[in-house]
Amino acid sequence: MRIAVTGASGFVGGAVCRALVARGDRVLAYGRRAAVRPEHVGGARYRSWDLARGPLESAPAVDAVVHCAGSVTDWGPVKGFFAVNLDGTRHALASFPGARFVHVSTASVYDPYRPTVMACEHLAPVTRYLNGYGASKAAAERAVLKSGAESVILRPHAVYGPGDTTLLPRVEASVRGPWLLAVGSGRQRISLTSVGNLVQACVLACAPGPTGVFNVTDAEPVVLDDALALILAERGIQAERVYLPAGPALGLAAVAEGLHLLAGARRAPRLTRYALGHLAVERTLDITAARTRLGFRPEPTSFAGAYSW
Ligand SMILES: NC(=O)c1ccc[n+]([C@@H]2O[C@H](COP(=O)([O-])OP(=O)(O)OC[C@H]3O[C@@H](n4cnc5c(N)ncnc54)[C@H](OP(=O)(O)O)[C@@H]3O)[C@@H](O)[C@H]2O)c1
Repeated sequence: MRIAVTGASGFVGGAVCRALVARGDRVLAYGRRAAVRPEHVGGARYRSWDLARGPLESAPAVDAVVHCAGSVTDWGPVKGFFAVNLDGTRHALASFPGARFVHVSTASVYDPYRPTVMACEHLAPVTRYLNGYGASKAAAERAVLKSGAESVILRPHAVYGPGDTTLLPRVEASVRGPWLLAVGSGRQRISLTSVGNLVQACVLACAPGPTGVFNVTDAEPVVLDDALALILAERGIQAERVYLPAGPALGLAAVAEGLHLLAGARRAPRLTRYALGHLAVERTLDITAARTRLGFRPEPTSFAGAYSW
């Protein structure tokens, strides 16, 4: 198949390119930066395209698009998130009319104000979000569905693995001397998504077949404390896990965010309600639809080799 991958210079998009090239697809890789190391995209042809600016000029005909590009952070002006995540998605759709559109969304489209307990796909999007990231990704999902394109929307949660720019670095950043600071009871269950499992879902979704919205996670949820213990062991860090009560921690994060806004700070505060909220309470997703309709066969959560990149 001829497949275009956006966000190819990033963590997920790079892994998708490498997997598609390895199975023999003709891959056209797109990212915002001028160039990438060829091995990052499995040797695929790479082209720079800022998709917030408009559709791709002289776009080639492709069978499928895996749309991984996005502004992926928990802090920043709402306008910037919408320019990349919503307008950028519209531009990607317009660039490849007639192609099957695999849209990498996120579990951040579920209601951030309450625990997510083995949530099924119909429970999102909602109407309230903590930041521009969740709101813009929800708007992008609506735009994909409204476009009438043959589409598959994938919703991973907390993607980790070799090259991870978010979850594993965040856990490491929470180590303070002999302690790893976390929030909640530690016994809350969390669905995580290895980049390998997400890539498997992207590859399955490219093939002509089912359309719709699918949660994508590891085989089973994990208990947060067990996951943190495994991450520390894999990294060789000796730190005791210390849990702060969620209510006061979220209050503190709200104050930190307010002070940052007042000061006009560009950098994210150390604590945000969004980041805390992802691990402070149960965040689990039902993946029955992906298993039964896409043929998704996820591996269990494992951090072995996650730092090998
Ligand atoms: N990582 C997670 O935990 C996680 C969880 C759930 C869902 N997701 C979703 O997975 C997708 C990929 O995330 P990731 O973790 O791979 O993020 P990432 O490593 O930050 O990669 C983001 C990609 O988007 C590209 N991009 C950003 N703005 C762009 C623009 N204006 N024009 C063109 N390309 C642009 C970046 O290009 P440059 O780097 O060249 O600027 C990069 O290739 C996102 O849609 C995200 O919402 C991620």
